[in-house]
Amino acid sequence: MRTEEARPVRLEDYRPPDWLVETAELDVSLHPAASRVRAAITLRPNGNGAPAPLVLDGEALNLVSLKLDGVALPPDQFVATPNRLTITQPPQRRFRLDIETVIDPSANTQLSGLYRSGAIYCTQCEAEGFRRITYFPDRPDVMAVYTTRIEAEKGEAPVLLANGNLVASGNVPGTTRHFAVWHDPFPKPSYLFALVGGELACVEDRLRTMSGCEVTLRIYVEPGKEQRCLYAMDSLKRAMRWDEAAFGREYDLDIFMIVAVSNFNMGAMENKGLNIFNDKYILASPETATDNDFERIEAIVAHEYFHNWTGNRITCRDWFQLCLKEGLTVFRDEEFSADQRSRAVERIGDVRGLRTHQFVEDAGPLAHPVRPAVYREINNFYTATVYEKGAEVVRMLKVLLGPENFRKGMDLYFIRHDGQAATVEQFVQCFADVASADLTQFMLWYSQAGTPEVVATGSYDAAAKTYRLDLAQTIPATPGQPSKAPMVIPLAVGLVGRDGRDLPLKLVNGRTIEHGVVTLTKPAESLLFADVHEPPVASLNRGFSAPIKLSTNLSSDDLRFLAAHDADAFNRWEALQTLATRLLVDNTAALRANGAAREDRGLLDALGATLNDGQLEPAFVALALTIPGEADIAREIGRDVDPDAVFAARTALRAALGKHLAAPLFDHYHRLTESGPYRPDAAGAGRRALRNTCLDLLAAAGRPEAVSIAARQYQAADNMTDRMAALSTLSLCDVPQRAAALEDFYSRYADDPLIVDKWLTLQATIPEPATLDRVKALTEHRAFSFANPNRVRSLIHAFALANQKEFNRADGRGYDFIVDTVLALDPKNPQLAARLVSALRNWRMLEPMRRGRAEAALQRVAAAPSLSPDVDDIVQRALTQD
Ligand code: BES
Ligand code: ZN
Repeated sequence: MRTEEARPVRLEDYRPPDWLVETAELDVSLHPAASRVRAAITLRPNGNGAPAPLVLDGEALNLVSLKLDGVALPPDQFVATPNRLTITQPPQRRFRLDIETVIDPSANTQLSGLYRSGAIYCTQCEAEGFRRITYFPDRPDVMAVYTTRIEAEKGEAPVLLANGNLVASGNVPGTTRHFAVWHDPFPKPSYLFALVGGELACVEDRLRTMSGCEVTLRIYVEPGKEQRCLYAMDSLKRAMRWDEAAFGREYDLDIFMIVAVSNFNMGAMENKGLNIFNDKYILASPETATDNDFERIEAIVAHEYFHNWTGNRITCRDWFQLCLKEGLTVFRDEEFSADQRSRAVERIGDVRGLRTHQFVEDAGPLAHPVRPAVYREINNFYTATVYEKGAEVVRMLKVLLGPENFRKGMDLYFIRHDGQAATVEQFVQCFADVASADLTQFMLWYSQAGTPEVVATGSYDAAAKTYRLDLAQTIPATPGQPSKAPMVIPLAVGLVGRDGRDLPLKLVNGRTIEHGVVTLTKPAESLLFADVHEPPVASLNRGFSAPIKLSTNLSSDDLRFLAAHDADAFNRWEALQTLATRLLVDNTAALRANGAAREDRGLLDALGATLNDGQLEPAFVALALTIPGEADIAREIGRDVDPDAVFAARTALRAALGKHLAAPLFDHYHRLTESGPYRPDAAGAGRRALRNTCLDLLAAAGRPEAVSIAARQYQAADNMTDRMAALSTLSLCDVPQRAAALEDFYSRYADDPLIVDKWLTLQATIPEPATLDRVKALTEHRAFSFANPNRVRSLIHAFALANQKEFNRADGRGYDFIVDTVLALDPKNPQLAARLVSALRNWRMLEPMRRGRAEAALQRVAAAPSLSPDVDDIVQRALTQD
């Protein structure tokens, strides 16, 4: 049963709350099937005159008792349903409500509100889960000071945690129960409330903040896993230091706690002083986690910590402003990772993620602006657009205004809005004020969906010694937005001379280009560069300064030149990707028409030169050798996509690469052998990434030695990165060693669910026709459970999202399987089901036969009775043509 409030919700309908909550005192008595919640809230009219009635949000609640100012409220003065509490004639002054409800955490399979992860009690309140705990004005612009008393059996829940600082604890006399009282002095919205109870071990550390306050740091985890929390703890300390140095922000409570749980819908949650994490993003040791896992843990620990300022101290006025905290905080965690590791490598990784997730979203029926104007289910708007494009928009502010003004703008934002629930306009106004800039047109980045397309045409005039660059921008139509206005596009540009050095950027009208950034504002504009004494190669959108699709008239020779010489590392990588994409798109078409794939010796040689360039960092080279994925190629093709042809084109290029570069690939594989013990640092991770990429390409070329090397590496590895990489390479080869290694892997790690997840994913992503039946069989495996989101994501989401070929089987059975799973999951966990059904969103891009089957699959979901609002919202939008 879901909330009855009017849907859809529109930004233009925003009204400030009629009532504010000053304090919320919660007394939660934990019990597996019937936890009692006593909430004492003091309400006060917001401004003069709070209209009757007072309506509090609820969801699936049972009211036990209700008092107003200490007196039981007569039944004719209120209406309580599971989804709301209405007080017909509230007093027009400050008053207190005592609300008692009973909830069943063990029956909560949605993992929203108070639920149990194994034997642990925990909460997840963002976005609208608090209303599943008690009746409350559950909206982010109602900020209250919370005091939380938790009571539980000592044996069942020896550890009791909530937001803020611990103020009291003890036994409940005459019982086997105990209690703890936590007080959080910072006013916060209800979505940041959290409590945890259970048998948990912890690791503890301390940190002295820049103003000299001692903070206790604790990570709570299932007993026995303490050693696997040390990297997360180290990441937390580095994140805290970094926020002081980079943004002048320090922590503000006596204690900062993280709890790792194994049943969690998302990655992690930034509850004030008490972050709750999916244990996948906390637990790591060299033997159990890959370099990639370590990198994600560092980033997510930092991300949730950074929310303490961008999200908690300053929160969102309403959920339309979600990017205000998420986009900004992703920007902050990306910058943190860039400073901790390699900036160029991080940027390439972030842009790859943006293209694979956000560009695809922006090109399909679920496209929406960074700040949507309407939603039916807010859970469906925690999207790549809000997060990743939202981060790009913040990054563009920094590019446009420069680092000093950017920092000043952030400082002003923290001063002006601390303690408030703010809007995107208020955020951007801070930058306009410090830089005396007009950011009106820039605001279009928040309101217009769709990826802007920029066409750049360069021409050199040898006689006049000028270089002319014509730039035109268009923004494609998206649902509800048929026509668009031109955007502000900051393009970092360079003109690269024959010797690889940048030529000075001087325009004929005498103007120079500040910091190498050209800002486009019109549908079309031209730049004429003066004193260009040799024909240059234009390097555009350096560092991916704007999240656009750029097409240029650069020739293959120009791109190979940039790959070898551009001063901007991102564009060296980009040049190789562009060359590969052009080839893969051509070859996909050729293969569909039963033609022959062409080979591009120039590309192979350019990649060989990159491999042999001793100046480049190994992590960069590994990324350069990773050719665009099937989803990237499909997106580039855009329509009538045949996933089998895409796969064949990509497989052929990987084989050609492994064959053409066999000697240097073997060479690098052996040269990059590590001598010392495993360390998860960026340099070591980069060497391992390159070494494993070399091996994988050799196997892709069908080299039998590569298979035996992989089998040997699998057995000999002293760390999960190398073991997993070898297994993954083997899994792509239909050889006897594969089955043996997969079996060995399971028997080694059967007791470790997070490692079994890797085993599930690997099998789900094998691009062979037998995979679908194998995946179905694995749903019956004792290691699998539909009740645990990590298991479902590792097996089923991985099949739908990371195995383009088998998910898009020509017979449509891949779609049917996903639809069956969605319908089975939906009644239990709608958020998880909604994310899974989104895998079908880009059905219109497919060739006609698959398109028909995918549409029929979506129609089957749409026709099912009693869908959750979450799944219903996705399928309705996915099927709507406009
Ligand atoms: N606030 C979110 C968690 C969240 C998301 C809660 C959706 C409820 C609904 C948190 O800060 C977050 O963004 N987590 C990400 C990881 C992050 C590194 C991008 C996640 O959980 O995937
Ligand atoms: Zn976040």
